[in-house]
Amino acid sequence: MADFSDKVIYQIYPKSFRDLNGDGLGDIPGIIEKLDYLKELGVDYLWLTPVFISPQRDNGYDVADYRKIDEKFGTMEDLEELIAQSGRRGIGIMLDMVFNHTSTAHEWFQKALAGDPEYQNYYIFKDGEPGQPPTNWQSKFGGSAWEYVPTLGKWYLHLFDVTQADLNWENPKVREELKEVIRFWKQKGIKGFRFDVVNLISKPEVWEDDLEGDGRRFYTDGPRVHEYLKELVRDTGIEDFVTVGEMSSTTLEHCIRYSAPREKELSMCFSFHHLKIDYKNGNKWELMEPDFAALKELFIKWQTGMQAGAGQSALFWCNHDQPRIVSRLGDEGRYWKESAKMLAGMIHLMRGTPYVYQGEEIGMTNPHYTGIGQYRDVESLNYYKILLEQGKTADEALEILAARSRDNSRTPMQWNGGAHCGFSEAEPWIPISDNSAQINVESQLGDDTSIFSFYQKLIALRKENEVIAKGEIAFLEEENPKVLAYRRSLGDRELTVFCNLGDTETEISMKPEWEGCRKLLGNYEKEFSCAKEETLTLEPYEFLVLETGQAHGM
Ligand code: GLC
Repeated sequence: MADFSDKVIYQIYPKSFRDLNGDGLGDIPGIIEKLDYLKELGVDYLWLTPVFISPQRDNGYDVADYRKIDEKFGTMEDLEELIAQSGRRGIGIMLDMVFNHTSTAHEWFQKALAGDPEYQNYYIFKDGEPGQPPTNWQSKFGGSAWEYVPTLGKWYLHLFDVTQADLNWENPKVREELKEVIRFWKQKGIKGFRFDVVNLISKPEVWEDDLEGDGRRFYTDGPRVHEYLKELVRDTGIEDFVTVGEMSSTTLEHCIRYSAPREKELSMCFSFHHLKIDYKNGNKWELMEPDFAALKELFIKWQTGMQAGAGQSALFWCNHDQPRIVSRLGDEGRYWKESAKMLAGMIHLMRGTPYVYQGEEIGMTNPHYTGIGQYRDVESLNYYKILLEQGKTADEALEILAARSRDNSRTPMQWNGGAHCGFSEAEPWIPISDNSAQINVESQLGDDTSIFSFYQKLIALRKENEVIAKGEIAFLEEENPKVLAYRRSLGDRELTVFCNLGDTETEISMKPEWEGCRKLLGNYEKEFSCAKEETLTLEPYEFLVLETGQAHGM
């Protein structure tokens, strides 16, 4: 198994990245146009969210054909061109494999619906009566996880939208079909894969009601999931490819197994616990101020735990399912720049492989939508209705969506301050953010103090300092709720990182052994000297990396 801790991965949401053919929807030629920009940022891989044929009920996560490009995004030739052109720039392309479910428009599901028992066994169908679903499990997008098909007298399982039917991984034929998909893309020159909700693929043997929750405890990190992953990776020969699994509601113990090289499963995992610290009672649809103490505790637990088990983390704040991090944990106003940089620095220097989600590198914020007509996401639209049914007013429901909707990250990439923010000549498929005149790529390129430039520096730092990719991590200042601090060390190199999580100054005590240390990077333009100081004052949202090891004088 290869190691990817010295790499940085950039996530593209093609629908909102760059539209070249003027239909208001981003496309693959648009990505090709921006390759030099991505090269300048310094990333190694581009992960594209699904571009396959799909009814787009869940923006491509409802795949109808795993081997064909949806014409909305371009053609197979366009993708081949992207692979070739990015390859020339030393950038690999990663595709998103949605293997927990297919769209109900997929040929396999259509055959199942037509009554073919072979294809019914590709999915999870259960005999039953209308009104009596096999279990009380809930879909992650709201409502029952089962749908009745009257013509068959059967229910089928869909953990997500009703048009996303769960595949039956127990069936070896299904596993063979999915391996063929990987082989197909490998042979096209794809260099890596992201596996969508892959820890949900192994369903339990017994189907029972969940009297405590929505059913997830029965199918999350299910009984055969490790066996299935090992088989998939081995039989398709992708041991040395970059592979990342999206692990929904997982545990540390399982993530170690998914990603430790000795297990020969995946190169790394996404876990989401650190992105639930502003969910009230664990409920995404109830607003709460972020709990920074909990955030610290989670980072300490996961970073040191993964290290102890030799597991590998994907480091990230943002993706196409998460609100923008600067809106969430930082500050959109006075400290916009400082907080965006601090949040970036905090995770980029931890142990793992960092991901940058399009627009994060210029500090894009949530778009501040005010009307339900601006939303497109199936989950947001479902939950808007559910919130109203629960007795919330329309204003309250909209306030919740404005903070929590997945559309917060799906707005068009802000290339410039012009019409449609340089994303398209046409009206975009989803409204642009209200601040594209201030926050855009054009205004940041060439500005050494920009957020973009800070991301460039963080990426360059990883390439120049092996201690960032390979060093050990240990946390400091564990009792200080306002500061997250850690040390990375490798041989005689040692870096110490400080992040002030809040909008007020705070102090930390300097350690005598840090005398003579030097500043490697920070988000405030100020001179630093640690000659004689006993305390160090951190400005609001300050991020500071000091070279504290014995080699700092060299
Ligand atoms: C993952 C994707 C999300 C999608 C879901 C179902 O969580 O990131 O966008 O809706 O899986 O495929």
